[in-house]
Amino acid sequence: MALLPILCYPDPKLHTVAKPVAAVDARIKTLISDMIETMLEAKGIGLAATQVDVHERLIVIDISEQRDDPLVLINPRIVWSSPEKHQNEEGCLSVPGIYDSVERCDTVKVEAQDGHGTARLIEADGLLAVCIQHEMDHLLGRVFVEYLSPLKRKRIKTKMLKSQREARA
Ligand code: NI
Repeated sequence: MALLPILCYPDPKLHTVAKPVAAVDARIKTLISDMIETMLEAKGIGLAATQVDVHERLIVIDISEQRDDPLVLINPRIVWSSPEKHQNEEGCLSVPGIYDSVERCDTVKVEAQDGHGTARLIEADGLLAVCIQHEMDHLLGRVFVEYLSPLKRKRIKTKMLKSQREARA
């Protein structure tokens, strides 16, 4: 297993649209283990392959208290979403230290393959539903700050670039 570097906003590579995973082979299984390790190490509850600069439709999530119950979604597709929506506070490992409200569907049904390539249908609500929608946005090249006002987004971009410059100095 290995820790993978996480792309930070406003890295333009975060806007890449991911391609489907062709086969759940040894390479993808290694990527899944590395992504889970990277997510846990960074104390995140979700990570999309896009964030580690791999542009294939793969997500890992762990919202369990013990951090020992990872959910792997390969080629996820939302097949149903509730008309009911709510604002939830979100953060992102690619935008460290920034939290803001984003509107998401309360419940989603998602078709995806698991880490063994088996097709599954998952019905998610609460935090899991929010997390799945947030991570699936990454696969479309979308970062949550893009839902915020242009002024907020500009401030966040400036703040991120400043802290990235300081980290390099
Ligand atoms: Ni994120």
